[in-house]
Amino acid sequence: MKLSPEQAAMLDGRRGWPQQIALEMLVAVGKAHDAPDLIPIRSAHVVIDGLALGAPGLAFLERLVAEGGRFVVPTSLNALAIDRRRAPADDGERQQRRMLEACEKMGALASCSCNPFIQGIVPAFGEAVAWSESATAPYVNAVVGARTNREGATAIAAALTGLTPRYGMHLDHERRGGVLYEVTAPVTSLDRFNLLGTLIGRRAGDRIPVIAGLDRRPSLENLVGFGAAMAVVSALPMYHMVGVTPEAPTVAAVFPGGAPAAEIIDDAALAAEYRRTASATSRRVDVVSLGCPHASLAQMEEVAGLLGDRRVVDRVRFYVHTNATTLAAADAAGVLARLEAAGIRVTADNCAVLSYDKLPRAAQLATNSAKMALFATALSGVGIHYGDVAACVEAGLAGYWEGPWSSPG
Ligand code: F3S
Repeated sequence: MKLSPEQAAMLDGRRGWPQQIALEMLVAVGKAHDAPDLIPIRSAHVVIDGLALGAPGLAFLERLVAEGGRFVVPTSLNALAIDRRRAPADDGERQQRRMLEACEKMGALASCSCNPFIQGIVPAFGEAVAWSESATAPYVNAVVGARTNREGATAIAAALTGLTPRYGMHLDHERRGGVLYEVTAPVTSLDRFNLLGTLIGRRAGDRIPVIAGLDRRPSLENLVGFGAAMAVVSALPMYHMVGVTPEAPTVAAVFPGGAPAAEIIDDAALAAEYRRTASATSRRVDVVSLGCPHASLAQMEEVAGLLGDRRVVDRVRFYVHTNATTLAAADAAGVLARLEAAGIRVTADNCAVLSYDKLPRAAQLATNSAKMALFATALSGVGIHYGDVAACVEAGLAGYWEGPWSSPG
């Protein structure tokens, strides 16, 4: 792999241990992918999930700080394992807080969200960046038109050096379409964009999916949800939506050698994906979960509007998950007070899934997020009620689900 003199100096330790260990990581990944060299990046997005990184992760981050490590490009942080407004309740939470402090000392912005786009943290079209988290990378590549691989710990190495190996999504030919889907099913709500995401993620394998035929222009929230759902069941780093995402003005633009025959995704296919997701074993609802990925202010306003002056029944735990910036905006707009007055618990900065990992198996959870449905099922085996935001709100107010297929186009 070709290195510049400055990169060689990093690698042999002349720029300190943090950049040396970071460059070792990037060179190893680059060699594994036959990358010819390293390219400069403009930003990084880093996951410091306290549960996943544990004590070794904390020790690594604190050593980076002690040895003078600094992030050399704008670096945002993904959702944490804690709500920062609460005092840490145990060693794991104290550990997570120390990881956050270490990253802040290195210059990270404590954005603490898997949906930083609703905070205005968005790369520019064509930029090379290094973003981790399955909810962010597909949005960055597909919707923004910036370029990132689905990073892991390598995002920290990229942030410390301002570099990433040139492979994968940084190469024009890797971003071309691999399979074409014509969607004839009505896809108009977030829950349906989520189902379309898991369906396409399962079907596409490692081929970049190109989606045509959508009958409505998706919102930011729909696109974030679609990409997160697609990426949670696949290793796909991007997609194209014809006439929606910037690199796919036409089908021909993403299939320069000629488009393949389209596979049809009709309402029956989407309904089958719904049946695969909705696993509830009774009409009872114990938990309602909205905000995976984190809810925007518009989504919180929608929930408040659907509630009116009604209140969640006492035995239902109704959560809306977001980040501190959006929470502050909701507070200023009076939306937070309306949600809390109705009995909704609004969390900030934490990954939604961690609110549910200790649920009893018999619990029934209502959500409009396919990613949440998959994680909650895997972590605690709960039953899933799946539908649009209105169905979820009504479930919280009634304590039972009006189903089964509550989100017709
Ligand atoms: Fe975000 Fe956690 Fe869902 S990181 S996308 S809230 S699983």
